[in-house]
Amino acid sequence: MKKRKLQNELQALFQFIDNSPTAYHATANLEKMLDDAGYVRLEEKEKWGIWPGGKYYVNRNGSAVIAFAIPEKKPRGFHMTAAHSDSPCFKLKEAAEVVANDCYVKLNVEKYGGMILSTWLDRPLSIAGRLVFRGKQGLESRLVNLEKDAAIIPNVAIHMNRDMNKGVEYNPQTDMEAVIGGADASGAWLRELAKQAGVADCEILGADLFLYNRDKCRIIGIDDAFIAGPRLDDLECAFAGMTALIKEMPEEYVNVCAVFDNEEVGSGTKQGADSTFLKDVLERICGGLGIDAEEYRCMLAESFLISADNAHALHPNHPEKADAANRPLMNNGIVIKYHGSQRYATDALSAAVMKDICMQAGVLYQAYANRSDIAGGSTLGNISTAQVSVSTVDIGLAQLAMHSAFETAGAADVGYLIQALCAFYHA
Ligand code: CO
Repeated sequence: MKKRKLQNELQALFQFIDNSPTAYHATANLEKMLDDAGYVRLEEKEKWGIWPGGKYYVNRNGSAVIAFAIPEKKPRGFHMTAAHSDSPCFKLKEAAEVVANDCYVKLNVEKYGGMILSTWLDRPLSIAGRLVFRGKQGLESRLVNLEKDAAIIPNVAIHMNRDMNKGVEYNPQTDMEAVIGGADASGAWLRELAKQAGVADCEILGADLFLYNRDKCRIIGIDDAFIAGPRLDDLECAFAGMTALIKEMPEEYVNVCAVFDNEEVGSGTKQGADSTFLKDVLERICGGLGIDAEEYRCMLAESFLISADNAHALHPNHPEKADAANRPLMNNGIVIKYHGSQRYATDALSAAVMKDICMQAGVLYQAYANRSDIAGGSTLGNISTAQVSVSTVDIGLAQLAMHSAFETAGAADVGYLIQALCAFYHA
């Protein structure tokens, strides 16, 4: 029975990730989950009607979404989780096509985020994103996805570079152009994408298009201990946050799940964690419920944010990269992230709150800290609290090969995170 439940959760996660090649698709799929659960869509440009007991969501830029559920009685504060919808990948440049040597059509791309470049070589790739064109109602945006093994970034043969296995430096301009066909293929990819949007390619006025890895998520290991797939960072946490929000009814707090875009490039966009998106939503919730500015600030002081973004597991071949004692393992539960310079927002109090939640949920927790001589990454927690200052803990699920085109994580952990976040939202 337990194994069956695990399988169901993983199947739902795999389906979500496989169908979410870009942040736009991830957001649309999260919204589909919310629609199916009876959440009401609100538009930022319209006045909101908000009622006790209601469930709502609001989208910004098509790539970030904040969902919230309001209790029947007057809320004491906000119980919030945050994750991100974007993952490192290649973005197609505005003029994206290059014809090379009269025999290849290639895609001119640039890096989006800090990816492991080598992992994008020699694997089937495709194109997805959004197209903007003038429709009957003015400018319209449409999601597109080639859904075909359409492109590849080939390595140089070892015969042409005998030093290949001594480490290769990849130039993102010259080494990473993806071949998308022979000389006659010019324009075919754009015509196909435009057709999906129901327009001709010459009618496209704007495009946010990305290369994505065509590999699908799967279970790995003779004992089924691991999962592997693209974009586990951070679609695992986005999926877990939204799943938990939908499962629980709020009692004393407004439950909020925020999935921001652009974490991989510093969060500094209108739909990123360093924007007013969350603040705007919380203020409008209060406005709609007749809660004044003074009470709103009292509520913030009673609020808590769980910022969920994946963490580094102990590497099987490189244990020396991990801290001496704070080295998480896959399938060992929620990772609480600590950082002396507060790039993770966790402190003693917020860690204690998180541990308490895990204990209530019957879920294991563990600690992550960088080696003191490694800078490490950053995440959402301390960026988001600069906009909405509440007690915050940074957590994640242990994974390997973060920012690879194909990452590995523990098969049991997403279930643990859903369980822990359900306990949090249930309070
Ligand atoms: Co991340």
